Amino acid sequence: MVKSLETPEPQMLKPGIKAPVQETLLTPRFYTTDFAAMEKLDISANETELLAIVEELRADYNRHHFVRDDEFKQCWDGIQGETRRSFIDFLERSCTSEFSGFLLFKELSRRLKEKNPILAEAFQLMARDEARHAGFLNKSMADFNLSLDLSYLTKNRTYTFFPPEWIIYTVYLSEKIGYWRYILMYRHLQKNPQYQFYPLFRKFESWCQDENRHGDFFKALLRSQPKLWQNWKARLWVRFFLLTVFVTHTITVFERASFYQSIGIHPRKYNQQVIRETNNTAARAFPLILDTNHPEFFWRLEQCFENNQKLAEINKSDRSKFVKFWLKVPAIAAIIWHMLRIYLVKPINAELTRETVL
Ligand SMILES: [Fe+2]
Ligand SMILES: [Fe+2]
Repeated sequence: MVKSLETPEPQMLKPGIKAPVQETLLTPRFYTTDFAAMEKLDISANETELLAIVEELRADYNRHHFVRDDEFKQCWDGIQGETRRSFIDFLERSCTSEFSGFLLFKELSRRLKEKNPILAEAFQLMARDEARHAGFLNKSMADFNLSLDLSYLTKNRTYTFFPPEWIIYTVYLSEKIGYWRYILMYRHLQKNPQYQFYPLFRKFESWCQDENRHGDFFKALLRSQPKLWQNWKARLWVRFFLLTVFVTHTITVFERASFYQSIGIHPRKYNQQVIRETNNTAARAFPLILDTNHPEFFWRLEQCFENNQKLAEINKSDRSKFVKFWLKVPAIAAIIWHMLRIYLVKPINAELTRETVL
């Protein structure tokens, strides 16, 4: 059974402003890239599809969606204890990753304006959506007397450099996994309204269509670059990114088991469903996907979580750095071993099924 971990009390930066959680490999990242290389991307091989998606983004179907209606205007002090702490943690993590998307898309649209106007417009429209998402989540945090200082985050977070190819793979996957996370939560709460303790979840149906469109844009961009899917190197990278996204997802879902339980979601079932759906969706963009039906697939992902917990416990202990390092070696080796074993499972060729899945 999934272990339920207590969420720590939020730390404050100043009154009402929450200090961002400590950055780790698993907290949502802020990205930067090689803008000059991005500018030079030749999208002519798939321009029609890209233009059709830009047209969809222009239509701005959700322009009236992100409104805090009357349902929000009440006191939320009734939500207390672990439910409150883990919900705030969920809001913060979601807000940070939405905001990270906003910053990257905004910078891309600014830098590409002159030389690649189609991509620049798409990034500008997606930045618009992410700003709405992050803003809405931050207002929800304010209902719990906290908010994130987004300009502080902009200046103080570490930016990870990813070359354009990695940006396209990872942002594609994060948009699609984001879509599945939101829609599955929404469908579950529609069926089980007794768990809907806060109206934010009701917004997820249209919200996740934004993420779906962003994912479709990245899919079209990826398919416009044959080097990103038509050779052996691309096949190795795709396996790696699918695996790392699924390991990260498993660890973060299991770490926050108490949040999922508070809305009546079984963390293990939810994790598996999100991963299976995202993997199947990825067959539309990637040359291959992972074999989630392999008998050891989810067991090994969960072993990564178990070992990550051991690392967290060692880090928390008051031993010297030297001792901590040696205590951590077996857990780190175990995570690498389990990831390697999943990586080596024969993947499923998505190109063979392309005609039927498109
Ligand atoms: Fe978003
Ligand atoms: Fe998005």
